[in-house]
Amino acid sequence: MFKNKNFLSVKNLHIDEIDYLINLANKMLPYANRQKKTKVLDGAILANLFFEPSTRTRISFAVAFNRLGGVVNDTTGVQFSSLTKGESIYDTSKVISSYVDIITVRHPTTGVVGEFANASDVPVINGGDGVSEHPTQAMLDIYTIHKEVGQINGISIAMVGDLKYGRTVHSLSILLSLYKNITLYLISPNALKMPEYIKEDLLSKGVKIIESENLEENLQYVDIIYSTRIQEERFATPELYERYRGKYNINKKMYQKYCKPTSILMHPLPRDSRLNKPEIDNDLNDFKNLAIFRQSANGIPIRMAIFASILGVEDKF
Ligand code: NCD
Repeated sequence: MFKNKNFLSVKNLHIDEIDYLINLANKMLPYANRQKKTKVLDGAILANLFFEPSTRTRISFAVAFNRLGGVVNDTTGVQFSSLTKGESIYDTSKVISSYVDIITVRHPTTGVVGEFANASDVPVINGGDGVSEHPTQAMLDIYTIHKEVGQINGISIAMVGDLKYGRTVHSLSILLSLYKNITLYLISPNALKMPEYIKEDLLSKGVKIIESENLEENLQYVDIIYSTRIQEERFATPELYERYRGKYNINKKMYQKYCKPTSILMHPLPRDSRLNKPEIDNDLNDFKNLAIFRQSANGIPIRMAIFASILGVEDKF
């Protein structure tokens, strides 16, 4: 379905394409956990280019590709690449795309992943570009909601934290707007609100939006709480970041007092544990409705589905 296409944004995805990836991801599950083995991508090479910190996304792209039988070449950090010698994105992309079959790219500057894809002779997958988008994360989030709640139409979800700079909530909210009767509680400090252009898009698609700075008073209404990290690296000064650090921390007591007993807790991770006040508290670590580690594990089958589809081997499953 995505044969030879780039995967750069969620903006042009259709609901049937999302359903298709969810179904394909389900077929990948026995291969993702090695109950079954496959070599469908035998001989294929992925260049996994991360010009910004990452743990989950980089490793899960690599593991997904490996589980399909392909091999991976990793580059991490701009400082170790020829970009520091003044090489243009165009040249880097031309060269690497002449070596490999597919490329994943993360970059701190919005638009650079697209620029990279324009120059590339092989498909490019966006692994996070600046404050803009993170489409594979949004796909694994949708997959997680589907598995945890059973359906997506009609859900209420609170997105909490840094909605201005957090690219995961940008992509996820756009995907959610393709479904019916979605209610979005956007909980953030005033200075870190969801960008207007995204809100306008969501409203035009019929999403109901409630904005607030207050977490407690809105928790009772939602099926899912999607917490996010304050994006320290995007602030102009450390002082600005310090104003918001640790502002939202959901712990067990709060959950029991305010949430529906069925509410699912999600987070793209990493949780910021430095203040001992992560966005979702450690006292919820063994709680059954904490979906964060099931969510990160879902990144493998979803990314396997995306690779298989782009490289045209999905019929083998
Ligand atoms: C997120 C990211 O990089 O945008 N992490 C991830 O990919 N799971 C979220 C974050 O860094 O806060």
